[in-house]
Amino acid sequence: MDQLIVTGNGALTGEVRISGAKNAALPILAATMLADGPILIDNVPHLHDVTTMIELLGRMGVQVTLGERMQVEVDPRGVHTLAAPYELVKTMRASILVLGPLLARYGEAEVSLPGGCAIGSRPVDLHIRGLTAMGAEIRVENGYIRARAGRLKGARIVLETVTVTGTENLMMAACLADGETIIENAAREPEVVDLARFLSAMGARIEGAGTDTLRIQGVRSLHGARHQVLPDRIEAGTYLVAGAITRGKIMARGACPGVLDAVLQKLREAGAEVTVHGEDIELDTGGRRPSAVNVRTAPYPAFPTDMQAQFMALNTVADGVGTIAETVFENRFMHVQEMQRMGARIQVEGNLAVVTGCETLTGAPVMATDLRASASLVLAGLVAEGDTTVDRIYHLDRGYERIEEKLGQLGAKIRRVRK
Ligand code: UD1
Repeated sequence: MDQLIVTGNGALTGEVRISGAKNAALPILAATMLADGPILIDNVPHLHDVTTMIELLGRMGVQVTLGERMQVEVDPRGVHTLAAPYELVKTMRASILVLGPLLARYGEAEVSLPGGCAIGSRPVDLHIRGLTAMGAEIRVENGYIRARAGRLKGARIVLETVTVTGTENLMMAACLADGETIIENAAREPEVVDLARFLSAMGARIEGAGTDTLRIQGVRSLHGARHQVLPDRIEAGTYLVAGAITRGKIMARGACPGVLDAVLQKLREAGAEVTVHGEDIELDTGGRRPSAVNVRTAPYPAFPTDMQAQFMALNTVADGVGTIAETVFENRFMHVQEMQRMGARIQVEGNLAVVTGCETLTGAPVMATDLRASASLVLAGLVAEGDTTVDRIYHLDRGYERIEEKLGQLGAKIRRVRK
């Protein structure tokens, strides 16, 4: 198993190029199954979760060819198996995204329940309820979701909670349904919008992407298309925090600043000068220690839960006291204990963490528990005295492309070792 050894090495400076968004690439790959013809996707990040999705599609009979420069060619015409097995789904919850497309296109699907997860119970009941409202017959048995339908029927669905993959699953299914589907309280995340753009390029009729009401007129079939995946806002945010926490100066290239407002605002509150140049974002701390910030996570356009752990790291060395309220997931504070082992002063009560900044952290062996928690431990390591060894970094590899190389280019001392 690989580990990362991070050695505090002062301010990070320089440029980093932002990869395609994992959370857009995954639903887009799943959506290819809706089409009758070949598809070309550009800017697909090279990540473990993407490989898992490609493997899952491959087992179903979808042909996926990896081209050069992050290009992926998909031919969905050979689908022969309408199932997603537990062994793959358990490694990646986003596998649930094949449920909507399989059911809509082939009238049948068997997808393993994702099961528990380090960051909370994360049920998929809203996916199931929405598809049932569209006429599917769904049974949950032996750990599997077994779904059948003739042609799905348009329906009006009001989502009880804002769910990103739930919205995506239902939107994909609705594209081939008979009649109009209205999804209310839909997720407004940029990745949902990117998926809608891709579906529209295949011939889908979707209105309202980016608002909380989606209107989808079902069509008989979807055709092949070409699409470029939008940049990863969470990756961009993570590198900007790396700049802020180390009192450095960073340019994030190709970062799509328009979808990062809430994060950029918090970086400014932390005292950094943040300037947008077209698609690039420049962060300059002027060598100053960050100020503590208060953060409250909520669905887009509010502050993303996927940036919560990184801002916790920032607060551990900031000037003052900052609070972090996590409202999207229960139990998403597993990084706290590890940061405390590095000397951080954090008190947790329910979904609120109160962080009192200290002058410096000390390096320690720490264990990653989920993707963003892992990133936050690497960030903490960048400002700790001595070595921080981050274990279980397969979590990081699920969501960050070549993280040690990218941080290394910015001046970080970070290396990967095999245990
Ligand atoms: C997606 C993102 C993940 C991000 C999260 C929130 C992908 C692949 N993953 O995860 O990185 O952290 O959005 O922005 O895009 N819920 C239910 N019932 C459901 C579905 C969800 O109660 O059927 C609840 C969840 O438990 C959670 C909340 O809704 O409390 C939001 O979860 P959701 O938006 O569905 O997260 P994911 O789509 O799994």
